[in-house]
Amino acid sequence: MQGLGVRELGVSAVREAFDVALRAALTLSELDDIRVRFTGKKGELTVLLRSLGKLPPEMRKEAGQEVNALRDEIEARLEETGRKIREAENEKQEKSERIDVTLPAKGRRTGAFHPVMQTMHEIANIMQGLGYSVASGPEIEEDYYNFECLNVPKWHPARDMQDTFYFPDGKLLRTHTSPVQIRAMHQYGAPLRIVCPGKVYRRDNDTTHSPMFNQMEGLLVDKDVSFSEMKGTITEMVNAFFGRSLKSRFRASYFPFTEPSMELDIECVECSGHDEHCRVCHGTGWLEVAGMGMVHPNVIRAGKINPDEYNGFAFGIGLDRMAMLKYGIADLRLLFDGNVSYFLSGFGGAESC
Ligand code: PHE
Repeated sequence: MQGLGVRELGVSAVREAFDVALRAALTLSELDDIRVRFTGKKGELTVLLRSLGKLPPEMRKEAGQEVNALRDEIEARLEETGRKIREAENEKQEKSERIDVTLPAKGRRTGAFHPVMQTMHEIANIMQGLGYSVASGPEIEEDYYNFECLNVPKWHPARDMQDTFYFPDGKLLRTHTSPVQIRAMHQYGAPLRIVCPGKVYRRDNDTTHSPMFNQMEGLLVDKDVSFSEMKGTITEMVNAFFGRSLKSRFRASYFPFTEPSMELDIECVECSGHDEHCRVCHGTGWLEVAGMGMVHPNVIRAGKINPDEYNGFAFGIGLDRMAMLKYGIADLRLLFDGNVSYFLSGFGGAESC
């Protein structure tokens, strides 16, 4: 009879209803609804608890135990399910926010040096390895350094070799890096080993000449410097730059500031002299890359060094030419017209540019 009384109370019906509801709960707010539905003021469990008072006293104890057990169970299960849902939600959030440190980085596109600057750095590096320092001088130069000190007086016909941009005050855009020879001798005295890379300017503008181009001057002043030291130094530099041993030849030439003077030709890097239609050497098999010579005693003297005690050699390399040869750039103008896509494409398609 007693059992029946408890059953009438509906404990198991409430437990079942709670069970079904709880299983379906996926979120904390759904769980809250269940909590209200069963334990709120008018909740199914609350109603059960209240109805205990209306039972005949002999049934109260057992029914009370059952209902209290159900209350404990409901509270425990609400608690547990709440914890599980919170855990699952935390995990989900963590997963969505997790940073995968093993993913490859997005990377950043870096810039690159212009081929001429690259060439300049490479050659300066090679020369530094041979004990040379890097010097510099102004691009707006005085006639005195650009010509006079270099054994080119006003009347000298060699001035015509380098058609010059003059400023109204008589200053000029340096036509070569050779004035730095004088400036370096004045500044450092002898013995001396310097290279000086930089821009130079001449009134020239066609497919093979630009009004601005880049040179690297080299100057060594010491005692008993020999011609073969000069040849060895230049050959070493060129081979190190191209990364292989190229044939070279020295041709007699003329510069007012060196005596004797030479020009260096190197074996054509494109065809090695095997292609009579070669676009680089035009079938000659040789490429002219530098002027040089033993420094004229007048120049040593202009550098305030005693030419009876010291001598030396100097050279001037065309950096644009060297860059074109090393990187296979067919047209000089491409170096100056800022065609970025041409350079990004690995210097290809010169014809189409
Ligand atoms: N200054 C010369 C030129 O521009 C090159 C050169 C430099 C020649 C040093 C001899 C010695 O043509």
